[in-house]
Amino acid sequence: MLNNILVHSGLFRYFILFIFLSFSLLTALAGADVTTGICSDCHTVHNSQGGDQNDPVAFKLNDSYSGFETNMTPNAMLLVSDCVGCHTSTGTSTIVSNAPIVFNTGALSNPLAGGNFTSVRTNDVLGHNVTGIVSQDGSLGLTPPGGTAMSSQLTCAGEYGCHGDRSSGKTNFTGMSKAHHTDDNGGITGASVGLSYRFLNGVLGKEDSDWEQDNTNTSHNEYNGSSSSETDTISYLCAQCHGNLHTWEGGALEVGTASPWLRHPTDIELKSSGEYANYTSYSMIAPVARPDPDTVPATAQVVPGTDIVMCLSCHRAHASPYYKMLRWDIKSSTLATALSGCNVCHTSKN
Ligand code: HEC
Ligand code: HEC
Ligand code: HEC
Ligand code: HEC
Ligand code: HEC
Repeated sequence: MLNNILVHSGLFRYFILFIFLSFSLLTALAGADVTTGICSDCHTVHNSQGGDQNDPVAFKLNDSYSGFETNMTPNAMLLVSDCVGCHTSTGTSTIVSNAPIVFNTGALSNPLAGGNFTSVRTNDVLGHNVTGIVSQDGSLGLTPPGGTAMSSQLTCAGEYGCHGDRSSGKTNFTGMSKAHHTDDNGGITGASVGLSYRFLNGVLGKEDSDWEQDNTNTSHNEYNGSSSSETDTISYLCAQCHGNLHTWEGGALEVGTASPWLRHPTDIELKSSGEYANYTSYSMIAPVARPDPDTVPATAQVVPGTDIVMCLSCHRAHASPYYKMLRWDIKSSTLATALSGCNVCHTSKN
């Protein structure tokens, strides 16, 4: 279970000790806040130990993804690994040493809210093809459907990524500068990358402390949505690349303004009448966004007329086991399963 890079690197020198003290050390690390954690858990100043520069501290995922290997090439910001390295595990757990794991190289239990990149390794159609995890998408190439071709494969962050500052020329690390070291106990304001929902620059929301690992509607992320042309919503994040699929990008005509819609609307309120009025218990299969994630009256409930359809009502952000990163198996030959997510809102279409 303790198979991610943080364990292999920061605690590597104390490996024997670790065996004996695994419980207390694990507890210590799990309680660590990045802003106050032991620097050497994540950074290496010289990438050398025991006087031997051929014995580096930095680690990376090996080519066969079966484990980690030492890395002579230094990482940005003297880090022990890169984004994929720290957020990957060869074990089954999805939170390791307090780091959210979004790529389990083998089997896993309890994927986190964003979904797990392991699926896209088996089939391009199941997720975003991110550099360092899988090569570019064989059929879509570098073109996000609904948007224009990018000049590079997707990265975690920066100009060609979803996290961090996406402005021109930004890379994984320059785009994420200072994010991990920002104290966000004062709330998510969108004022900087570190103060944005899950380091998605400018996006608002409320962060569930276990990244929805427990998958229960009494404690979950609260996503921001807006039925006017706001740019701080989770759906607008997607629209930065998939513009035409979003209600408010490039003119409402891309989606329509009312029935008959051209494409399924996003960032619009659920009607308080008709079949939508019956969606009142928050569903982890087809969740809704809120107009103000910080002041949700009852987290396990949905308020038709107020709450909002979003891209993540139907999709996972990273990847999922289902066609087009959907949250349920829309291709199932059992109609009830195929429609199981749609039915959450379209309550009369069972
Ligand atoms: C749990 C992992 C972790 C720990 C512990 C940690 N850091 Fe970092 N640090 C990071 C990551 C990841 C980045 C790069 C991305 C970012 O800035 O969010 C970073 C970036 C930095 C940067 C560059 C910031 C910039 O943008 O210029 C400095 C300086 C830094 N860390 C110093 C420290 C110091 C000093 C400590 C100990 C008090 C420490 N770090 C502990 C993970 C960590
Ligand atoms: C040295 C290890 C390390 C590296 C490198 C690293 N991270 Fe992290 N990251 C962590 C840890 C540990 C946490 C958990 C921090 C916490 O919740 O206190 C984290 C948290 C996160 C989160 C969740 C933030 C939240 O609000 O819950 C995101 C998103 C993220 N990292 C993205 C990235 C990206 C993108 C990169 C590359 C630019 C990166 N990380 C590089 C260790 C790392
Ligand atoms: C930085 C640009 C970017 C952002 C932001 C972005 N995407 Fe994508 N997306 C792409 C690209 C490029 C592709 C096509 C290549 C691929 O699948 O990797 C794609 C493909 C997809 C696909 C089809 C997957 C497939 O392989 O057939 C879906 C579904 C999708 N994105 C949903 C989303 C959702 C939902 C969000 C917001 C949470 C989002 N995207 C945000 C760039 C982006
Ligand atoms: C009501 C559910 C639902 C919502 C909301 C939704 N999608 Fe989809 N999306 C689907 C389904 C179902 C597919 C599968 C293909 C199809 O039926 O068009 C799909 C396919 C896609 C594709 C792949 C298209 C292609 O040509 O391969 C992308 C990209 C995508 N969605 C992005 C988004 C983005 C971005 C948003 C928010 C602006 C969004 N979706 C909102 C259900 C949804
Ligand atoms: C999170 C809630 C939600 C989910 C999940 C959802 N829808 Fe919708 N859907 C809506 C809303 C809201 C509208 C817009 C109704 C209106 O205001 O006209 C809509 C509109 C539609 C329409 C157009 C209806 C009309 O009157 O023009 C169709 C068709 C549709 N959805 C199909 C689907 C399918 C198929 C799925 C599953 C892949 C799905 N929806 C999932 C909320 C949802």
